[in-house]
Amino acid sequence: MKDPLIVANWKMNPSSFREAEDLFTKEDYEGVVVCPPFVFLDRLNKIKKNANLGAQNCSLKEEGSFTGEISPTMLKDVGCKYVILGHSERKKMFNETSDIVKEKIKSSLNKGLVPIVCIGEIDNKEGEKEIEEQLRSTIDSSFKELVIAYEPLFAIGTGIPCSPDVAKKRKEFIKKILSDIFDKNVNFPILYGGSVNLENAKDYIFLSGFEGLLIGKSSLDSKEFAGILKKVGLEDK
Ligand code: PGA
Repeated sequence: MKDPLIVANWKMNPSSFREAEDLFTKEDYEGVVVCPPFVFLDRLNKIKKNANLGAQNCSLKEEGSFTGEISPTMLKDVGCKYVILGHSERKKMFNETSDIVKEKIKSSLNKGLVPIVCIGEIDNKEGEKEIEEQLRSTIDSSFKELVIAYEPLFAIGTGIPCSPDVAKKRKEFIKKILSDIFDKNVNFPILYGGSVNLENAKDYIFLSGFEGLLIGKSSLDSKEFAGILKKVGLEDK
């Protein structure tokens, strides 16, 4: 079995570079992608060249008069390899639509970043319908390299994880829709995200069959994070 891909989404944490540096040095394992806030990326990249750094968002524009935006080229320049796109918090709070996310994926791929595209239903009952709509409106068959993160909204930041059984079904469904969009089987890694913790992490890998995890809150606690890595077989790598 291939090592799982573990992505730490620090969101808008921690508050100082000193804390970020401390957390980063503790989470710097092979197979882990750390996604800190933009302002820490450059300095963290200098601590360890070739670290697996990711951003939490980027602009769909390349350059110009876009106050407050950060381009994919800038992210490359500070050592990013990945970028999280379409996170539900951005959809909910910053009105990001599927069209916008699709443009961001295109710009990121053009600049050599691997997009980690978040997909997930609001309502568990309408799960498949919502997931299919999101995938079809966001993913284009021309996209060459992607990571998909299945993140059901009810599980994000709530402490109420999705059951491994439902997550497994969703993963298989996502794979099916992707094969349809690309008209062939595609092997993009599919991650689970939403209230991952020390107790449930291994279930999403070993029972549900996900290729990795997108971890928010538990990635801010280096002891819990190290414990999760151990449970999914990434210890000492
Ligand atoms: P959580 O966040 O692990 O705190 O639920 C996951 C995410 O939002 O990516």
